[in-house]
Amino acid sequence: MSQAGRPTFEQCAVLSGLLTQQQIDEARAGMRWSEGEEPDAGATPSDKQLADRLIEIGLLNPWQATQLLAGRTKFTLGPYIMVDSIGQGGMGQVFKAQHGKMGRIVAVKVLPRDKSTPEAVQSFTREIRALAQLDHPKLVAALDAGQDGNVYFLVTEYVPGADLRKLVREHGPLAMETAASIVSQVAEALAYAHAKGIVHRDVKPANVLVTPDGQAKLSDLGLSGPLHDAAENDPRYGKVVGTADYLSPDQVRDPWTPTPAWDIYSLGCTLYYSVTGKVPFPGGTATDKARAHCELRPLNPRRLNPQLTTEFADVMADMMAKEPSQRIATAEEVVRRLSSFLAGPTGTQAIRTSPTGAWSAAVREAMRAHWPLAAFVLAPLVLTAAVLLFWSLVRMLLP
Ligand SMILES: Nc1ncnc2c1ncn2[C@@H]1O[C@H](COP(=O)(O)OP(=O)(O)O)[C@@H](O)[C@H]1O
Ligand SMILES: [Mg+2]
Repeated sequence: MSQAGRPTFEQCAVLSGLLTQQQIDEARAGMRWSEGEEPDAGATPSDKQLADRLIEIGLLNPWQATQLLAGRTKFTLGPYIMVDSIGQGGMGQVFKAQHGKMGRIVAVKVLPRDKSTPEAVQSFTREIRALAQLDHPKLVAALDAGQDGNVYFLVTEYVPGADLRKLVREHGPLAMETAASIVSQVAEALAYAHAKGIVHRDVKPANVLVTPDGQAKLSDLGLSGPLHDAAENDPRYGKVVGTADYLSPDQVRDPWTPTPAWDIYSLGCTLYYSVTGKVPFPGGTATDKARAHCELRPLNPRRLNPQLTTEFADVMADMMAKEPSQRIATAEEVVRRLSSFLAGPTGTQAIRTSPTGAWSAAVREAMRAHWPLAAFVLAPLVLTAAVLLFWSLVRMLLP
């Protein structure tokens, strides 16, 4: 123990099971100390140095090091080992984790305390059971729900990459074809859910996960409300969860009767955000935004992104029609309407951004990665062509 009675970084590392004493000793032995200086394992600076060294040699990641330096020793929730922190959302903290026995990498979502009431947990458990029956490649699969002490958590498939909100924040508005591909994949997931009688209720860019090769998956299905009949004793009954930026007028007016039309409107707003980088009604409070969805027309997206065609803006407007009867009626119809904007038969596999039309980091990276291969294949071809050219010149010049 340290002088303050709190376990030291080193003790935490061993207690947590993340490292063995031998690994720590070896890491310390590998550290270069200035002449005549002896490592002082108890002092804070050397803890930090040792932690940095352990990160450098790949035995810890920065998140684990920070947790250990803060004196934390528990990295498990039920049978899952937390490996990294992925994000903090409306629902709580999300971790990348590994199943201790099976080794499977998953995402673990910890429910915040105010959502961990016995009723909320009971309804989550019921729903996770229903969600676990769903199986669609464009839907983030729900795998498990568990409890560890008074902490409740959900386990889903882990999707590498970034969510659509992060993607647009980092790369700017997406090109039409890229946005059409991503949104059309989400519409496929919605078509499947709607056919099972399930309305998502919280379709938004942060709930669309995009892999580095452009595959999109819809997450958090069923987490923002009861799945089927709106059980009046459900704590989420009639409540709007999270942001008002993607809320349909019909959901604002009657939050007790979910319909697939809600999701289509929210998906329209998600598409608007993807190609403009702006939500349809950026200013004001949540109440102002909810009112704007009911009464105002959003700024013409072509003014924000001149590369959008009128036809594309029309699809968006049809998804975002205020009156459900005027709106595109089904998710299948969204897929069909967007199909003419896809880059290829299966849609774009890479992220292209707009308005510059520049290739995204993903594509640049792929090109950079493939340059050596291209050079390796092209060099012999160019050499052979040069030799043949030279040979025919010689043949022509010789008598
Ligand atoms: N299954 C998953 N795989 C990978 N990343 C995820 C997964 N689920 C959530 N995330 C990441 O964690 C962030 C927070 O998730 P969430 O709690 O659902 O937030 P939000 O309320 O914004 O939807 C997401 O925006 C996403 O980047
Ligand atoms: Mg989410």
